[in-house]
Amino acid sequence: MTIDISTATPDDAAALAACAAVAFPLACPPDADPDDIRRHIQTQLSAERFAANIAAPGHTILCIRAGDEIAGYSMIMLDQPSDPDVLAALTASPAVELSKFYVHPGHHGRGSAAALMTATLERAAASGLPGIWLGVNQENARAIRFYTKSGFRTVGTKRFRLGNRFEDDFILEQTLPAGADSVA
Ligand SMILES: CC(C)(COP(=O)(O)OP(=O)(O)OC[C@H]1O[C@@H](n2cnc3c(N)ncnc32)[C@H](O)[C@@H]1OP(=O)(O)O)[C@@H](O)C(=O)NCCC(=O)NCCS
Repeated sequence: MTIDISTATPDDAAALAACAAVAFPLACPPDADPDDIRRHIQTQLSAERFAANIAAPGHTILCIRAGDEIAGYSMIMLDQPSDPDVLAALTASPAVELSKFYVHPGHHGRGSAAALMTATLERAAASGLPGIWLGVNQENARAIRFYTKSGFRTVGTKRFRLGNRFEDDFILEQTLPAGADSVA
């Protein structure tokens, strides 16, 4: 089966928000406050926020398309991190950030995530930067397994603020082909 993946356009903002509302809670630890999750979805994953990200220079959103719906998406950003924990952990710098990677649960375990990751890493490599990094909740075993299968390795830890509490993340990184020669 062909998996249809392409770059988001402004017309995709509402469908991206709908996909994010279903997939984001799955990335949160089981004891996260449901109100905090709801607020994060409303404020950070709204159609307006997606529209702003689609328009932002250096941000690329890739979508898995299933008819009129979006079954998953990734977002990479060329903005460099300011978190000292991330800066200390990265071995390849400057680096692309894999800021979002979500697949609708109806498409888990079916190869869609792997196809999206391949397309995402190709886009990241085209930036010419030597590495790509991400943060993942330390309790998100499925995502950690998936990222490890996709070539990432754990290089550190950081914290992620969700509502009034901090969640513990791992920092994962991999070298990109374009920069392979410039990294020790
Ligand atoms: C993370 C995500 C994109 C991976 O996509 P997927 O289709 O589930 O990925 P795959 O099925 O290819 O791989 C998942 C792996 O985790 C394993 N796995 C599943 N549940 C697991 C669990 N509870 N603990 C450990 N491993 C688990 C699977 O067996 C598989 O490994 P295998 O291929 O070696 O058997 C998808 O699950 C998702 O969108 N999750 C919700 C959002 C999220 O967490 N995003 C990441 C935010 S950082």
